[in-house]
Amino acid sequence: MSSLIFIFLLVIVLHVVLAREIRRNEEIISFDQNYKVTWGDNHVMSINQGKEIQLTMDYSSGSGFASKITYGSGLFHMRIKVPGRDSAGVVTAYYLNSQGNSHDELDFEFLGNREGKPYTLQTNVYANGEGSREQRISLWFDPTTDFHDYKILWNPHQIVFYVDNIPIRVYKNNSNIGVGYPTKSMQIIASLWNGDWATDGGQTKINWTYAPFKANFQGFDVSGCQSQSLNIDQNCLSNSYWWNDKQYWQLDLIAQKQYENVKQKYMNYDYCKDRQRYPIAPLECLH
Ligand SMILES: *[C@@H]1O[C@H](CO)[C@@H](O)[C@H](O)[C@H]1NC(C)=O
Ligand SMILES: *[C@@H]1O[C@H](CO)[C@@H](O)[C@H](O)[C@H]1NC(C)=O
Repeated sequence: MSSLIFIFLLVIVLHVVLAREIRRNEEIISFDQNYKVTWGDNHVMSINQGKEIQLTMDYSSGSGFASKITYGSGLFHMRIKVPGRDSAGVVTAYYLNSQGNSHDELDFEFLGNREGKPYTLQTNVYANGEGSREQRISLWFDPTTDFHDYKILWNPHQIVFYVDNIPIRVYKNNSNIGVGYPTKSMQIIASLWNGDWATDGGQTKINWTYAPFKANFQGFDVSGCQSQSLNIDQNCLSNSYWWNDKQYWQLDLIAQKQYENVKQKYMNYDYCKDRQRYPIAPLECLH
């Protein structure tokens, strides 16, 4: 009995140590270690010795950054605070993207809105050059006032988008029945740009009175498998990477419940249910 208690305590202690370790990495790893500025140089500001980055958009330019290397699997995350006040037409994006033709892409896109109206968070999945798989949710918090954590799990079995550890989208590897699934090395990218199309289907435009728009980013640690060739390095599919381990092959019961709840309460657009665009639901929607 006492040995059981001991093991129980040990597990708790290990959990705490591990959580602190992850937290510590996040605090220690600075922007320059894993990322570089790729767009709008003078619109990017480093804060607190590179522990935080602020992207700015004004009439002359937006801005962005990207990972120095490309990856073939991982559990990617970024802590983000999106532009406040009137942000209609302003898009903050955090995504994975491959090079060349028939590209793969996994997107978080925050679609700004008029002051007082809620942000919409759009996700999309491109595989082999095919996208048009938009889903949109309204968030259960105001993403402009605090940092929240946005994650993308990508392993050989599933892609999961998380908001503060709540799964908001699952895309399964159904390649055995002919559904596209990313196979190319991807770079991590974040940007702030003029998305004229984004708000109310493009009808609500940017009000430049409110420029410059500012988005802040933290958490430049990366848990990913380096993969430098166009197609992912087969090594990145190995179960020895923790994000490829069996517990990440599907949502557990609690996560499944959370996901159902998000779909019921917060999802306001799902391409799987759009019969005008897709008279027959795409194959992946049935599984
Ligand atoms: C997707 O699943 C198939 C098995 O159904 C597997 O062979 C393939 O490696 C997986 N694809 C990726 C990119 O992980
Ligand atoms: C932009 O915002 C300003 C300040 O709130 C307002 O006076 C103006 O009418 C707005 N312009 C448009 C085109 O909505």
